Amino acid sequence: MLIVNAPDLRDRDVTDHGLYLKRRQFMAGVAGLGLAACSGSSPASATALRFRPNRMPIDEARTPLDDVTGYNNFYEFGTGKEDPAKYAGMMRTRPWTIVVDGLCDRPGRYAIDDLIKRFPLEERIYRMRCVEAWSMVIPWVGFPLASLIKAVGPRSGAKFVAFETLRDPRQMPGQRSSVIQWPYREGLRLDEALHPLTLLAVGLYGQTLPNQNGAPIRLVVPWKYGFKGIKSIVRIRFTDRRPQTSWQMLAPREYGFYGNVNPAVDHPRWSQAKERRIGEFFRRKTLPFNGYGEQVAGLYRGLDPRQLY
Ligand code: MTE
Repeated sequence: MLIVNAPDLRDRDVTDHGLYLKRRQFMAGVAGLGLAACSGSSPASATALRFRPNRMPIDEARTPLDDVTGYNNFYEFGTGKEDPAKYAGMMRTRPWTIVVDGLCDRPGRYAIDDLIKRFPLEERIYRMRCVEAWSMVIPWVGFPLASLIKAVGPRSGAKFVAFETLRDPRQMPGQRSSVIQWPYREGLRLDEALHPLTLLAVGLYGQTLPNQNGAPIRLVVPWKYGFKGIKSIVRIRFTDRRPQTSWQMLAPREYGFYGNVNPAVDHPRWSQAKERRIGEFFRRKTLPFNGYGEQVAGLYRGLDPRQLY
């Protein structure tokens, strides 16, 4: 992953959020027109979602929508932070099915809209800490991954859950280069996947997920580095073996399977002690487990935290 300096504090970082939404709706309209012009398909526009409001208060300002949707990592559309916002409109997010297979009782092909109807949506305002040492606070909308897992019934041999992103270079121009081995892959231990904080997000800021943030459905695991939050998921597989993950395949010395946020374990090329919250000027201290230690440290009892990077 590349390290990019975050922008300095700008006026827009203190702009009222209502203005952001208006501006974003305008931008979505413009982007939609662009998409229609180049692909001939109807514009994909964000729609409001019905959800239960956040029940876990967080005493930190939410990152402005423009930054959440304009500064992204989604290598399927390029390695630049602004590439996803420019090109992710090429991805068709309907119809969209997720294949669930491996060691579970009810494998099958699940349509995204059926999942959204079946599992009540809720808002979760989480910190997101990228391994590149920047961070955001994002109001996601989604449902616990545990709800889906319980519905499909993992078998007793299932110990891990593996995830894959769509692979289609016609829709994802970044896949024409082999910067990583496609499809993007991620994985969790089954107990991590079942943890109540682990979310499948289908929206943010109350609207359907923008393509650049991983539409129509992406993983959010707030105590882990952002790279674990795999986007645009098309396959979820239950397995007895620890699955291979994209970043580990690429650079095993730099990116582990766990990816737990730990300020005491530096990346081989940079410190993880501090982070730049997008929109803030001064760096802030990174918290163990990204501040979620009270809820999740028990998952790792008896393991050396230095090995859980
Ligand atoms: N998922 C896919 N499929 N491809 C990617 O390149 N990048 C990851 C993660 N999920 C990535 C991905 C990284 S490195 C980060 S930090 C987060 O997505 C960024 O999420 P955001 O752009 O919504 O902030």
